[in-house]
Amino acid sequence: MSAGLPGALQDAIARFTADIAPKDLAARSASLTQTYRSGAGSNVIANDRDVAAYLTTRLPATYAAMAAVLDAVNERAPHFAPTRLLDAGAGPGTASWAAAELWPSLKAITMLDRNPHLLAAARTLALTSPHPSLSSAAFISSDLASLSPSTGNLLLLPSPLVGSRADQRQQSCRRPERVGALRSSARPTEGGAASARLEASEQAASYDLILAGYTFAELSGASRDRILASLWTACSGTLVIVEPGTPAGFATILACRTTLLAAGARIVAPCAGAHPCPIAAPDWCHFAERLPRSRAHMRAKDASVPFEDEKFAYLAVAREGLELTPLEARILAQPHATKPGVRFRLCTPSGLADRMVLKRDKPAYKAVSRKTWGDAL
Ligand SMILES: C[S@@+](CC[C@H](N)C(=O)[O-])C[C@H]1O[C@@H](n2cnc3c(N)ncnc32)[C@H](O)[C@@H]1O
Repeated sequence: MSAGLPGALQDAIARFTADIAPKDLAARSASLTQTYRSGAGSNVIANDRDVAAYLTTRLPATYAAMAAVLDAVNERAPHFAPTRLLDAGAGPGTASWAAAELWPSLKAITMLDRNPHLLAAARTLALTSPHPSLSSAAFISSDLASLSPSTGNLLLLPSPLVGSRADQRQQSCRRPERVGALRSSARPTEGGAASARLEASEQAASYDLILAGYTFAELSGASRDRILASLWTACSGTLVIVEPGTPAGFATILACRTTLLAAGARIVAPCAGAHPCPIAAPDWCHFAERLPRSRAHMRAKDASVPFEDEKFAYLAVAREGLELTPLEARILAQPHATKPGVRFRLCTPSGLADRMVLKRDKPAYKAVSRKTWGDAL
């Protein structure tokens, strides 16, 4: 999948930001960057101008990271064809757009966020999508903390229309959405019709794809564990968490990995094994995706080059039953080309490894010569 935004999304963002003076957009973008760098969250986004700054300067990067991660999931699970997506901490719907590009199988998308301004933008943008799953998406204005794993089935109402732009585009709300059959991870093992019925209703109410793009960074330790448990409970297929590619982002991913493995999750990507992660500080596991910058993006950041590199850390896990292709290793850093060949830093099923592939070993060299940081071997 391309790291660049789909045309319909680019156009919708251009319309959203059209009324905002470039100077104003640049000031808001600078302040947003400062906010994220300081570790503060998206609650500073409090009006359409702030949203416009996010759409112009952050969404292209979070989209590129999510698109790269979903490609990695698709590579390992080529038969995975999700139908029901929960975008947890959807913001303007970035992850949903990436998923809709990759999986035409998607039939129902639910975007949940606590920021009404971002969620209103998500609705405005989604209405312009050529993908029916996006243009008919459901929106839930709520805190993820309300998805308590101990509550059982939880009924959440779609948001009222929020924000001035969304108000202009009144549309019928979908019926209240049941968010996940919040079942315990211990699945019933006894047979019989009653248990089969229970199983069927759980399947119907859960999500076979849950995406959390740059959401966990905004959760505190205690609520993070609780929300992770709820999301895993609501997930019948694959759960994907993407975070900034910083030591703090990796620490969050590592904590989620430990919890999810203990709950019986199988790792889809990036790790080649389910052993304790061998990467220790000051090193951290992260990847990078190069994305194009639009002219508005360059202007807002006073940038001189038409691209940027987004660094991210991630984890994709699945429940039993998803068919995964074997993963020999994943490339953990930019390959180092030398005269005799190319050297790779690898995550393998037995831990970290450095591997030199020599040019004179023609078949092996040909097989890896186009491989780069983040690719699977
Ligand atoms: C950095 S933004 C990422 C938005 C989007 N996923 C993306 O990748 O562009 C983080 C989002 O998570 C949402 N969020 C953070 N904590 C939340 C919570 N406890 N409940 C619901 N949404 C939350 C914020 O409102 C914000 O929209």
